[in-house]
Amino acid sequence: MTPRVLRTRNFVKDAVSLILETGREAIARSGMFRLGLAGGSTPRAVYKALASCADDLPWECVQITFGDERCVPADNPDSNFHMAFEALLCRVPLPVGNVFQIQGHIDPNEAAAQCEAQLAAVAKRMGEPIYRHDLLLLGLGEDGHTASLFPGSPALEETQRLVVATTGPKPPPQRVTFTYPLLNASRKVAFLLNDPKKESVLEAALRGEFPSGKVRPTDGEVVWLVGS
Ligand code: 6PG
Repeated sequence: MTPRVLRTRNFVKDAVSLILETGREAIARSGMFRLGLAGGSTPRAVYKALASCADDLPWECVQITFGDERCVPADNPDSNFHMAFEALLCRVPLPVGNVFQIQGHIDPNEAAAQCEAQLAAVAKRMGEPIYRHDLLLLGLGEDGHTASLFPGSPALEETQRLVVATTGPKPPPQRVTFTYPLLNASRKVAFLLNDPKKESVLEAALRGEFPSGKVRPTDGEVVWLVGS
C-alpha cells in the first residue's frame, strides 16, 4: 500500500486526533489499543497533548510498547521511556502492566529478549503469529533511520528476531530496537515528522530509500504526518 502523506499546520493536534481515532477503532474491534511509541524529541509535544485529553481513551485498554530504547537507565534524560513517562505515562491512568518498557539498564541482549517474550505472550493470547500493533509511531532521523534501524546496520537484515540489540551513530550508541518483522506486522504505522530540514530525507524515504523507507506493513498502512 502506498504511504499516505498528510501535511498539516496543526501537527500536534492532528497527531493526537490520529492516535485517538485509531485507538477508538482498535478498542471497538478487539477491546485493546496496542500503541507503539516513538522516541527522540519530536513526539514529546504530541504525548503531552495526548495526556491533556486523557479522558478520551479508556487507558485500561491501552498497551504501550517502545519502538526502540537507548541503553541507559530509565531516569536518564536520553531514555525514550523517560521522555514518554514525563510527557504522557505519568499523566494517564495506565495500569503498570500495560507498559512494555525496554529495560535500558540491563544487558541489551537480555532486554531485547525480555521485550520479545512479553510481545510473544500477548500474540499467543491473540492467536497471532507476531504481535500486531494497532498503531506504531515512528520518527525519521536525518540519515534516514527510524527506531534504531540505522543505515548499514546488521539489524536491517534481521528476519526472525522481533527485537534486537544494536548500535548506532546517534548517541547514546548502544540500543535495543524493533526489527522489520515486528514493524511490518503493524496495522498502521505513523511517522511523525515536524522538521522542514528533513524534507529531502522524507522524499527519499517515500521512494523506498533508507531504513525508514523500507517499513512496509504486510497487511497495514503507512501514514506520514508532516508538520509545516
Ligand atoms: C531515537 C528514535 C529515533 C528518532 C529519530 C528522530 O531513539 O532516537 O527512536 O528513531 O525517532 O532519530 O528523532 P527526533 O524526533 O529527535 O528528530
